[in-house]
Amino acid sequence: MASSAAPINFTFGLWTVGWQAQDPFGDATRPALDPVESVRRLAELGASGITFHDDDLVPFGASAAEREQTVARFRAALQETGLTVPMVTTNTFAHPVFKDGALTSNDREVRRLALRKVLRQVDLGAELGAETFVMWGGREGAEYDGAKDYGAAHERYREGLDAVAGYIKEQGYGLRIALEPKPNEPRGDIMLPTVGHALALIAQLEHGDIVGVNPEVGHEQMAGLNFTVGIAQALWAGKLFHIDLNGQHGPKFDQDLVFGHGDLLSAFFTVDLLENGFPSGGPRYEGPRHFDYKPSRTEDLDGVWASAAANMATYRLLAERAAAFRADPEVQEAMSASGIPELARPTLDEGETAASLLEGYDFDGLAAESDRLAERGYGFVRLNQLAVEHVLGAR
Ligand code: GCO
Ligand code: MN
Ligand code: MN
Repeated sequence: MASSAAPINFTFGLWTVGWQAQDPFGDATRPALDPVESVRRLAELGASGITFHDDDLVPFGASAAEREQTVARFRAALQETGLTVPMVTTNTFAHPVFKDGALTSNDREVRRLALRKVLRQVDLGAELGAETFVMWGGREGAEYDGAKDYGAAHERYREGLDAVAGYIKEQGYGLRIALEPKPNEPRGDIMLPTVGHALALIAQLEHGDIVGVNPEVGHEQMAGLNFTVGIAQALWAGKLFHIDLNGQHGPKFDQDLVFGHGDLLSAFFTVDLLENGFPSGGPRYEGPRHFDYKPSRTEDLDGVWASAAANMATYRLLAERAAAFRADPEVQEAMSASGIPELARPTLDEGETAASLLEGYDFDGLAAESDRLAERGYGFVRLNQLAVEHVLGAR
């Protein structure tokens, strides 16, 4: 069980605190931030790592000399602060060239340009010691069903991902790819809309062994799905390679709120899973607790740094309460009464088969047996009330 004293590996994207708060309906409300300033401020606030898109650090179209100088200055700031770069990613969504997508654009020249841009960032990520390469296909999709041959589009997506994964293996980089699902925005419909869709595509890849997912709280919730259940399936499948934590108020535009500022109870159970694992044991998430959020457009720079701190403070508080929840004898008793530990028992006995399960069973007794088993209550509401009281600090 994690204790609040244990250091938690918090990381932030440069694009989060650096967002100047322009949106489709309004201009920027904040000045541009120097990435080196962000590194220093986030280190002061307690972050242990920084992540970035290629263009967050090196302006699109910069010369090789400018790029080299910018990266050198950034590395010096990492050296000075001790921050690491656990993850990098590529911006394949902002420049107009990607307006019909990158790896799945109908225009083959755009797909080849996008691959080159991704591969260059793979090289930089490996150079900086990143372990994860996130790929969010924000423009892979369409507004009209007739605009995309979705058979060819999935084939191109598979081809592009295998090309990048194959390159990583050829170069001997210690990188793994994490696909980030999102159902819509900025496209009307985005391919790989949920964790489930991404896991299904990964299963089709030649190099799927080094490809997993980077689920984002708000993205699953935009699709009306339960984020904790989504990451649980990814974790169970050994594919939870990274995570984007933030807040969201249900199916609406991508709010990218501070972590916990959306569905707080859901955030509690997310932290409980990340920090304490499945009650039955099994795979644990060992990666960074990465925040991909946007300081609200209403905030000035003081508000930006307060919002960055709020992500970590909220996560820590929830981690403390989740540890207390799991350690609470009344919770343990309630979990047993609800049959939680019993789910960990295999349904069939050792050596028993479906066929032997049927042997000698009298289906005439099925109705009476069903009525008997149906009588019990599971006590889930009491268990949830205990969780609510822990979240509220009332226990
Ligand atoms: C969004 C996405 C992005 C990605 C980032 C990393 O909705 O804008 O979450 O922030 O996470 O591009 O690929
Ligand atoms: Mn988002
Ligand atoms: Mn994200």
